[in-house]
Amino acid sequence: MNDTNTTKPQSPTRWLVALGPTHEPIDEVRFIGNRSSGRMGFEIAKAAQETGAHVRVLAGPCHLSQIDSLNDVARFQSAADLRALLTTDWPNFDVLIMAAAVADWRVAGEKLAGKLRRETPAPVLQLEPVAEILGNLQSHANQFVVGFALEPMEQMIASARRKLIAKKADCIVANSLQTLDGVESDARIVWPDGRVVSLDAQGAFAPKSVVARWIVQTISPAISQKCVH
Ligand code: CTP
Repeated sequence: MNDTNTTKPQSPTRWLVALGPTHEPIDEVRFIGNRSSGRMGFEIAKAAQETGAHVRVLAGPCHLSQIDSLNDVARFQSAADLRALLTTDWPNFDVLIMAAAVADWRVAGEKLAGKLRRETPAPVLQLEPVAEILGNLQSHANQFVVGFALEPMEQMIASARRKLIAKKADCIVANSLQTLDGVESDARIVWPDGRVVSLDAQGAFAPKSVVARWIVQTISPAISQKCVH
């Protein structure tokens, strides 16, 4: 048989899934955080792993006991930690699922050493913006980026469309605020060609495990097209 006719078996796609909140330190005991449970990211990672993909999870400080059942998990605390992990890992992956709920602000200046005491005058926390991670990430033409958007229902699609461009993503998974910390999602996938798709035609809520499998299934053809091995 001629070598040129041999079909090279496709290696499994490599997925990087960032999930959960960030904790921005105040001192060595306290932090500024948010209510993200990390559940949607976990369910997507699990669903992708079930398709045979190699999945690495970057997990923020969330309390999902099942996370350790996944094959490859690294932990982070702050947005700066997550940025450092992504800078190292992303060049070695095909797909990024950026489901982490990254803080928008952190305490300015150096983290205070030790523990602020109750007797000290109540501190006034000066905050500074956390720099954008996803929109500043360097990706190459064969990598596929999924951004997330958490939005009030009435702004969901318009805002997801803005974030699609600002985050340089291949698609955005938009969720309404009600999904935060819950077990159900009303996710829509917003595509650059203007299409908006949901699991249910009416965009009703469904368990995150079900929505996650649908998301993996729905984005997979676009991933296969873009991520040539
Ligand atoms: N994100 C990021 N870096 C940040 C903030 C958010 O990479 N500093 C990513 C999130 O992981 C998500 C997407 O950007 O994939 C949208 O996050 P979201 O919190 O919905 O929006 P923001 O960009 O923070 O904007 P806003 O708070 O105004 O909605």
